[in-house]
Formats: sequence, structure tokens, C-alpha cells
Amino acid sequence: MFKEKFKEGIITAKDFTRDDIDYILNRAQEMIRNDINSQLLSNKILATLFFEPSTRTRLSFESSMHRLGGSVIGFHKGDVSSTTKGESLADTIRTVENYSDGIVIRHNLEGAAKLAAKFSRIPIINAGSGSGEHPTQALLDLLTITQEGQKLDGMNIGIMGDLKYGRTVHSLTILLSNYDANIYLISPNELMLRNRDKDFLQKRQVKYKEITQYRKILDVLDVLYMTRIQKERIPDVEEYDKVKSFYVFRKDDLNNTKDNFKLMHPLPRITEISPEVDSSPKAIYFKQTYYGIPMRKAILAELLSD
Ligand code: CP
Repeated sequence: MFKEKFKEGIITAKDFTRDDIDYILNRAQEMIRNDINSQLLSNKILATLFFEPSTRTRLSFESSMHRLGGSVIGFHKGDVSSTTKGESLADTIRTVENYSDGIVIRHNLEGAAKLAAKFSRIPIINAGSGSGEHPTQALLDLLTITQEGQKLDGMNIGIMGDLKYGRTVHSLTILLSNYDANIYLISPNELMLRNRDKDFLQKRQVKYKEITQYRKILDVLDVLYMTRIQKERIPDVEEYDKVKSFYVFRKDDLNNTKDNFKLMHPLPRITEISPEVDSSPKAIYFKQTYYGIPMRKAILAELLSD
């Protein structure tokens, strides 16, 4: 069912029903329980096309593919591909589909993954499209939340930072709309969630509040999901300078949190979480990077296995 539904790939979190999410979470949990190298994808090749920088997403997809016995090709600097000679994305995809069984793509344009899927015979996985979406990050975020002892239904979650340009939060709020979570959207006024994203949440009757100060509500939160201010997407340097240090989560803040509170971040982190917080068991952002492996193994196994 999942395999059939997502045979063209994973482009947007909007395609996921609660059943789809539960299914892939279960598959990822199986990957955690059976953490052994497998040969499931030994005859498969994954292409990773990264037109934007990445550490976690590219390396965890590539590591997951290797751990399932598969091979990886690709590039991780757009300027070494023939796009610099003027080749279109459509032609790049129509070429790479002949060399591989699935394509993971990160691109600076919001519609890039969708466009790639239009021209591809093989599954496309959106690994971040401009300030649009990053659906597999959101899936691994839900895996992290559930594996680390929180329940998605009834959870109080704060999502904080750059809600305008941050693609991980767009996919995360979309996935959470399938659950009965209370969402606090915490941002400077300049970086609030876009109206189109709020319209989506309202249509789904999601319970959310927009606030600018997190300290007032820290004690009610089960999870605080922080994000980086997306310097590269803010058009004006002065605008960035105004908001870059708007939030800094410090060790003292932990004193006002519940015993089972979890602090998450998709990373990279710049200055928004003080390094002194890292050693707290409540800080789970490096565990979150680990959960990228079982989730991406589950996704690759579903999309690429025979
Ligand atoms: N979380 C995330 O997308 O990290 P990278 O940019 O390092 O892939």
C-alpha cells in the first residue's frame, strides 16, 4: 500500500495520512530493532543530487543505502554538474534516471522536487526544496519524538525560530496536523509562519497559537523544536542582523521545563542553543541525527526494494 502510493517518491508531507505515517514509523522501528546490515537493496543504486549544502540528510541517506547493501552515485555541489553549462533540471533527471533506481534531491527552488518527479520514471525523494519542505526530516522528527518517550496525540510542542523560511518546520507542522497536538508557533514577528501554511493548519483544525516569547510557556511544553534563522534565504543582511540572536536557549531555561521535556533541533545549530545545554539528557538533537538512519532505511526499503 505505502509502496504503491509513494511509487513516484516522497515530495510533500501533505501526501501523508496518519496511517501512512504510522506505517513508516513502524517500519523505522523495525530497522532499529534489527540494526544489522542487510542486502535488501544489493542490486540497487541511489543517486543523491545535492544542489545545496548538507551534512545530515545526504550522509544519512547514503549511509542508509550502504547499510542496506546498495550503492550510491551523485554529486553534492551543483557547480560540478552540467547544470552549470545550462542544462535544465528536467534534462538532468531524465539522464540520471538511466543510471539509478531512485533519486534524492536537494535544491534551492521550492518546486524542484515536484518538477523532478514530473520528469522521472523512478522515485524522487525531496531532501529539501528551498524554503518549501523537507518531508523526510519531519518523518525522522516524529520517530525521534515517539522513540524518546513522547506521544504525538495530546503533546504540547513549541516550534521556534525561523518559521517563515525554515522548510523542516513546514513539513513538521503538516505531519502534526494528522495528530491531536497543541502547537505553539514561536518566532520574531518578521519570521512568522506564512499565511498559506497557517491556512492549511486552519483547514485541518489544528490547535495552534502564535507567540514571540518562549519563556512564558516553557513549563507546559513536552517538546521544544528549535530551528536556525535561515541567513541564506533572508533577502536583506540588515533584516538578518535584527533577528539572528532573537532566541538563545540557555542551560538555566532547563530549570523551567518538565522532567520529561525534550529539546530538539534539525541542525545545523548556530547560536540559538548554548553549547552548555548539550550535556543535558533533555537535549536530544544529536540522538535526532541518529534517527535519520532507521527512518531513511525504512523509506529506501519501501521505495526501492523489489
Ligand atoms: N537537518 C538537515 O537537513 O541537515 P543538513 O542540512 O545538514 O542536511
